[in-house]
Amino acid sequence: MPIKFNSKDNVLHLYNKTISYLIFISNDKGLIHLYFGPNLKKYDLDTLVYHTIHYNSKYVDGQEKFNSLFDLNDETSMMEFPDFGTGDYRSVAVKIKNSYGDCTTDFQYKKHKITKGKGKLEGLPSLYGTENDFTTLQIFLQDKVSKVEAVLEYNIMENYPIITRNVKLVNKSSNDIVLKYLYSACLDFPTMDYNFYYLTGQYCKERTIRHNKVQPGIQMISSLEGKSSHHTTPFCALTSLDACEDYGDVYSINFIYSGNFEIRVETSPCDSTRLLVGINPETFEYCLTPYESFQSPEAVLLYTNKGLGEMTRIYHKVFNNHLISKRWQTTKRPLLLNSWEGCIFDFDTEKLLKIIDESHELGIEMLVLDDGWFGKRNSDTSSLGDWYVNKDKVDLHKVINHLHKYNMKFGLWFEPEMICPDSDLYRKHPNYAIKSNNRYPTLMRHQMVLNMTSKEVCDNVYQQISKMLDEYEIDYIKWDHNRSITEAYSKELGYKHMGEFYHRFILGTYSILEKINTNYPNVLIESCCGGGGRYDAGMLYYGPQVWTSDETDAIARLTIQEGTSFCFPCSSMGSHVTANPRTNYNTKAKVAMMGTFGYELNPLTLSQDIKEMIKQQIKEYHQYYNLTHFGNLYRLISPSVNPYKASWMFVSDNKDEALFTYVVPLRGPQSLSYIKLKGLDENKDYYCPQLDKTFNGKFLMTYGLRLTFAWVDTGQAISYYFKEVK
Ligand code: DGJ
Repeated sequence: MPIKFNSKDNVLHLYNKTISYLIFISNDKGLIHLYFGPNLKKYDLDTLVYHTIHYNSKYVDGQEKFNSLFDLNDETSMMEFPDFGTGDYRSVAVKIKNSYGDCTTDFQYKKHKITKGKGKLEGLPSLYGTENDFTTLQIFLQDKVSKVEAVLEYNIMENYPIITRNVKLVNKSSNDIVLKYLYSACLDFPTMDYNFYYLTGQYCKERTIRHNKVQPGIQMISSLEGKSSHHTTPFCALTSLDACEDYGDVYSINFIYSGNFEIRVETSPCDSTRLLVGINPETFEYCLTPYESFQSPEAVLLYTNKGLGEMTRIYHKVFNNHLISKRWQTTKRPLLLNSWEGCIFDFDTEKLLKIIDESHELGIEMLVLDDGWFGKRNSDTSSLGDWYVNKDKVDLHKVINHLHKYNMKFGLWFEPEMICPDSDLYRKHPNYAIKSNNRYPTLMRHQMVLNMTSKEVCDNVYQQISKMLDEYEIDYIKWDHNRSITEAYSKELGYKHMGEFYHRFILGTYSILEKINTNYPNVLIESCCGGGGRYDAGMLYYGPQVWTSDETDAIARLTIQEGTSFCFPCSSMGSHVTANPRTNYNTKAKVAMMGTFGYELNPLTLSQDIKEMIKQQIKEYHQYYNLTHFGNLYRLISPSVNPYKASWMFVSDNKDEALFTYVVPLRGPQSLSYIKLKGLDENKDYYCPQLDKTFNGKFLMTYGLRLTFAWVDTGQAISYYFKEVK
């Protein structure tokens, strides 16, 4: 079992072939973090426990009791679960207020338990796997005075350098306890010589890769909007200062949560670094009644010494195999045409039937009817909440029957967490919308947000969606979410529980998604949030695809897709070829093929030439499907760093095939003319049909591929396929 307790040293050692994680139970029963990094067969406890000289002691029963070196030193120790009030002045992982108003806690080790496998987190998304994939350590701590218990859970993976963590708090007192904050994971590092990598963005410019050196003080990325947001992503990495795509230490966290989160990097006066990830305490306060417990979301911790590229490939594999639902690991996703950019709200049955005919001709496998099919919705001013077909506008049975004639599938758009003031739902249940007492509610895109903390509201939403799924053969749902929460308030929660609003909101959303997946397991869910405003590991658990961005120009998409691919699988990146005129159809397809690939245009308006191109693209999509969905991604040239070029490649697991893509966002001083490929087998030879040439793998990786410049101009792109010659 890859978790051992060394009772001589009082050290818990989690390990697999590549990583080790060491926790020390101090003489005074504190939990000291010793180490996370490459696998250690042997370690020196004295060196690991070392902390700077300190003068803290405890006044115990009239006597001053000095700490030994192997006691916990709040001020300088590296901590597993730092708590508030006894001398750790860094940000702490937990803070509670007991019924006397006292916030001090001193969580001490009680026992631990090691088991095979990994459990499911109640009501929350998490990685899953068998007893062969995971081993679990639970450490039980207690604060004797407040009578609160904490269960720290660690799940180490057998085959990946990954440990997942969560915390559960149980109030074992007979009084209410207020939970002020609870981070899912705390990681202390012995120095502050790291770069901090994270993703930032905005609407239509999501997930730009950023980094800076860890600085004295606190740096934070967080969301307050009720969703992970366009602006930040619940992911980060601390890397050694020399780390790059191909080498260097990378300690990364991916937080499996879609609500308000916080990632905090803090340095101490002793030049150590603390990394905390969890629910954002700014909008969180949870009242735990006697014997109630609180479950934190799960954080995924990853370590590699092979750089950021390897981090990406590990995340892709782990999320594809242990986060995304089993069904979508093996079932080929249908190639879709989405109606939004081609039709907006302007469609009727006849137009859709013609679009279906044309789509079938092109080789499309599914029509997704986006916004505008329900209530009285002909613009974005009304009807959210009324999830029944606008029969004056569209005969959905006829549309679906027509698709079935061609053996095509059907997908439908919903925005389940929203309500328009101009809707039957609002007229009947105005109290379903989030509003605060005696204030005018803020509208965004003419809509309000439903109070998903209420079971009655969630039931109503689920019933409406399931009625549609029962009546129509729907193969796919696009789950949109086009505004943030304001005036967060729910009368039902009352004063005592109001601080739970944001967390309960996302639990409400998760509960509906879970129910749909359970009761309609064949329905494919693609989540969306005004483009990519809720792209996180939490949503991926319920739906294997996320609409990456409303920015659909291929060139503008380069940095968005690069950033997204940093920590989420390419198979999850909703990417469509659209009619956006800025870039040519060849480049659009090459860029969209980095993700799920699909179309979002009106095929009735296309010229014959473009239709022929699309048919060819669809052939290539099928040919490269396994490579682009499940292959290993190598980023070769970053468009965030180089405005004149972008390049990436996919390599299959057994290195027998690869797809190389090169895009010129802007014609400029191209450095001549070789590019080194990555990830191939140096002993293999590869045939490239586009160049009609065979190359040796080592040659391609050490000398490189020579690019011909006929096509190097603004907006151009090429892809070369390489197949092993046996
Ligand atoms: C925002 C999404 O990002 C778009 O793809 C589209 O579905 C619109 N909403 C529809 O209102």
